[in-house]
Amino acid sequence: MPRTSLRLLKTWTELRAWRAAQNSARPVHLVPTMGALHEGHLSLFRHARSDQGIAIASLFVNPLQFERKEDLANYPRTVEEDCAQMEAAGVEAVYMPDLADMYGADGCQILLDAGPGGEHFEGAARPGHFGGMLTVVHKLFQRVQPQRAFFGAKDAQQLFLVQRMAHDLDFPVEVVGCPIVREDDGLALSSRNVHLSSSGRVHALGLSKSLVTVANSFDKGSRDIEHLNQQLNTSMEQSGVRVAYANIIDEATFLPLDEATAKPGQRWRAVVAGRVEDVHLLDNRYLGTA
Ligand code: PAJ
Repeated sequence: MPRTSLRLLKTWTELRAWRAAQNSARPVHLVPTMGALHEGHLSLFRHARSDQGIAIASLFVNPLQFERKEDLANYPRTVEEDCAQMEAAGVEAVYMPDLADMYGADGCQILLDAGPGGEHFEGAARPGHFGGMLTVVHKLFQRVQPQRAFFGAKDAQQLFLVQRMAHDLDFPVEVVGCPIVREDDGLALSSRNVHLSSSGRVHALGLSKSLVTVANSFDKGSRDIEHLNQQLNTSMEQSGVRVAYANIIDEATFLPLDEATAKPGQRWRAVVAGRVEDVHLLDNRYLGTA
């Protein structure tokens, strides 16, 4: 893989100068991250380098999207390794501001509201999370002014909300969703997987297995939402996952479907989350058009 030397941009001022100096014949492609990089992030960098893209990453652990102080404090920080991995992946620059550069000395008082698509699932489990996430992504879009931004389908609700924000708030940014990177046995890669013991890791497979089970039912023709939801729940519980939620959603709204709202022609996705050894894990899978 061709190597570039990675430019470290620690302030908005440095970022602005870098942005102004880019060749306008090539599109600027942004990959926002919080660091602790794994293959899932690296796949986004590869997507960002397509179409002659100038790949820029951001690395910022965003306090606004953590509702528990201990989660923010415990978030893995591996900046040196992250920068080495970015450089090896052909990322040309990384914006890694400190708190004051991102939010100013007196902090951020105006927050975005995620709307109905942010009310369920991760939004219900973590109040304030999506408003904080959208606020920082909004600022990154403003500062970097990318033509495209790349997000993982692993965080499907986040991807939905960022696409919705770009649409609703008139960002001239194409928000591109990229496939979930998994281990060979199906476990979706996550920065949180490092907190699992080897037996916890086995239980964690319950999430991806439950998704395969309902995808099989869907492929065989089942459109019975209650039955599909039940299958997700049972399959995860049997694997030892403490289920947080397990639902079929309509991709157009990210709202949970039930018998009354399920209609032919909708694009259905199964979304699941649960705790294993006190680690909150999530996964999802596109099922198809109902
Ligand atoms: P972070 O958790 O670091 O994730 C950065 C990006 O990597 C997200 O778009 C996420 O969906 C993607 N990603 C994580 N695991 C993946 C996997 N297994 N396969 C494919 N992509 C994967 O998400 C955030 O940071 C933050 O909320 C952020 C958007 C940076 C705003 O602070």
